[in-house]
Amino acid sequence: MKELTLKSIIKEYQMDELPAEYRQIVESAIESTSHSYAPYSHFNVGACLLLDNGIEIKGCNQENAAFPSGICAERSAIFAAGAQYPEVGIKAIAIAARTPQGELTEEPVSPCGPCRQVIIESETRAKHPIRILLYGKKRIFLVEGIKQLMPLSFTEF
Ligand code: THU
Repeated sequence: MKELTLKSIIKEYQMDELPAEYRQIVESAIESTSHSYAPYSHFNVGACLLLDNGIEIKGCNQENAAFPSGICAERSAIFAAGAQYPEVGIKAIAIAARTPQGELTEEPVSPCGPCRQVIIESETRAKHPIRILLYGKKRIFLVEGIKQLMPLSFTEF
């Protein structure tokens, strides 16, 4: 038997330390939380993509009384980008969320499993890693590609 130890690198920033283009999409993700439709969870999530052509695409969670019909902020943005700019890769994605009390979360919010799977496929399409920025009031995490959050991921068959 052999035990493998896997390592992830996650960088921690404050807002004013972030490169300008990343700060911009974090601010847009925060803005996007106000368009979220979350009458069931009251957890308002916003996402903003930076495409390889410099265009920003925003998304936010859209819930539904039939729960599985709703969608997360990340996938709403990624699928919108796929519909509008199918040939353009995603350079970075920022995610932010507000608590049911309307406050931005203290700690970064991390994408769910299905969103990670969609991000990894978006890396395959873009042919490069996608930077992931996870906003929290206390700290912002920068992950240099979804593989850092998803070891042993499924990408092809
Ligand atoms: N949600 C997102 O939009 N993104 C995440 O990264 C975490 C969860 C949404 C799904 C649902 O509308 C609400 O947050 C509560 O889970």
